Amino acid sequence: MKRQLPDEQATNALAEEVFAALSGSLQGWTVLLKGELGAGKSTFARAFIKAAGHQGAVPSPTYTLVEPYDLPAGHIYHIDLYRVSDEAELRYLGWNELDDGFRLVEWPERAPGLADEADLLLELKYAGDSRLASLDALSARGAALIQKIN
Ligand SMILES: Nc1ncnc2c1ncn2[C@@H]1O[C@H](COP(=O)(O)OP(=O)(O)OP(=O)(O)O)[C@@H](O)[C@H]1O
Ligand SMILES: [Mg+2]
Repeated sequence: MKRQLPDEQATNALAEEVFAALSGSLQGWTVLLKGELGAGKSTFARAFIKAAGHQGAVPSPTYTLVEPYDLPAGHIYHIDLYRVSDEAELRYLGWNELDDGFRLVEWPERAPGLADEADLLLELKYAGDSRLASLDALSARGAALIQKIN
């Protein structure tokens, strides 16, 4: 699915719709957030985490690699692989232990193998001052989720 996102509010709205379209648990979901610097990956992640009930700041995981959120809806892990140069480094951030929650991954290009276990791919492209979003399924439940969004 493709959508024009004329401003930040539109990016936030898409994140809220994705959260609302989740049925059941946050467990084991992986969403890859691709796009150039400043395309809006963290904007999307922040709006998703807030839609899940988090109040307060959503710090950038650029240096910590993972920012965890323990919410009534479940665990969310906001992950930024920008500083990861080798897929093997995922081990050090405990990737496999994060499968009890919903993983939002910025810069997934750093670990190409993640596509095999992901559910959704969101690509954000610059379109003048606005953005073009492409949301594609990488799993059956990802496809079912996209069907609920328009
Ligand atoms: N749909 C949109 N149209 C125009 N501007 C937007 C849109 N969505 C977000 N923005 C703005 O673009 C910037 C995106 O910054 P953000 O930190 O979310 O990008 P990012 O993709 O996470 O970058 P990085 O690669 O550095 O992590 C913010 O200033 C935000 O206000
Ligand atoms: Mg970011």
